[in-house]
Amino acid sequence: NRIIFSGIQPTGVPHLGNYLGALRPWVKLQDGAAPDDQLLFSIVDLHAITIKQDSSLLRQWRKEMFASFLAVGLDPKKSILYAQSDVPAHAELMWILSCSASMGYLSRMTQWKSKMSLPSNANPFDTSTSKKKDAPALKLGLFSYPVLQAADILLYKTTHVPVGEDQAQHLEFARELAITFNHSFGAELLVPPQTIISPAKRVMSLAEPTKKMSKSDPDVKSRILITDTKEKIHKKIRVALTDSIQGVSYNRETRPGVSNLIDIMYHFQEEQFTSPEQLAQDLFGPETSLKALKEKVADTVDEHLREVREAFNNAMSMGDAEMSGVARESANTANQLASSNLKTIKAQMGLGWD
Ligand code: TYM
Repeated sequence: NRIIFSGIQPTGVPHLGNYLGALRPWVKLQDGAAPDDQLLFSIVDLHAITIKQDSSLLRQWRKEMFASFLAVGLDPKKSILYAQSDVPAHAELMWILSCSASMGYLSRMTQWKSKMSLPSNANPFDTSTSKKKDAPALKLGLFSYPVLQAADILLYKTTHVPVGEDQAQHLEFARELAITFNHSFGAELLVPPQTIISPAKRVMSLAEPTKKMSKSDPDVKSRILITDTKEKIHKKIRVALTDSIQGVSYNRETRPGVSNLIDIMYHFQEEQFTSPEQLAQDLFGPETSLKALKEKVADTVDEHLREVREAFNNAMSMGDAEMSGVARESANTANQLASSNLKTIKAQMGLGWD
């Protein structure tokens, strides 16, 4: 039996990258699961606070993310859907793992550097880079973010973690940490997980198609939200950055903007075409205008998101008590699984009275 875990930050309504790269593959795993598979999907609010958050916005965004879970088809009867901060064992295991995690390895991870706008060779201990004028200081929580992520996964003896490509580095870290930990305690306490990278592994920004689509981009036209109206979808795609080459052809290097639009369309029609190249060949050609391509892509996105959009509005109209009731019930189940695994780990280490 498989144990599948993944997490997403409470960033409000998810964008197309989150949807195609994570949420939709999670639903597919859920709906194709064997009876003895176990699935857990967590809104990782403890990760969110590695950068400054406004408390009421954080609440709102967690709610919107939970409503999005339900809207895309995650089902609390089939999957455990919960907020990370409702299960204290995540933080406790993180501490335990911190005592085995390598500072050197963490200092080579790219996320804290990009969040602090530092170059990829930046060194966390070099105070001249972090003390640059107006630069925020590197916080311990941001630096050790991957240790919490490893705890999320290892806490449940997860066998498979479905994510987009940007998480691959964190998962490699989790795997290595599990191996190191097992080695030092002489027991297979932790399970090194397998990564499942989704076919839509890196959906690119509409405004800057050489960067990934991201919640933190200040330009709202760079991303499509799964609740965007037909008009919004059309407008954002109409102004998406493309190029001045005639006609439609697929080449991610030379035509990143056009290829991103073709990719997006392909990911909604993976059953009908063998590849984005083939979709481009079959539906478009040297005579197709980019305007016509954009119309077609926008129509496809709108058609496929219509149902999600409506389901999201329904889920948001749930009362707060009803929604938190569902999330807490799942969290109780997660708590039971987590406490039992954590107890075994602690006992092996000589912690606690057992
Ligand atoms: P987060 O919240 O940034 O993203 C959630 C999921 O969406 C995927 N994703 C994308 N996929 C394709 N194209 C994009 N442009 C794109 N943008 C985001 C991400 O790869 C991810 O799968 N650290 C994680 C959350 C986390 C987690 C975990 C994940 C915490 N603990 C344990 C897996 C297992 C994060 O910040 O994801």
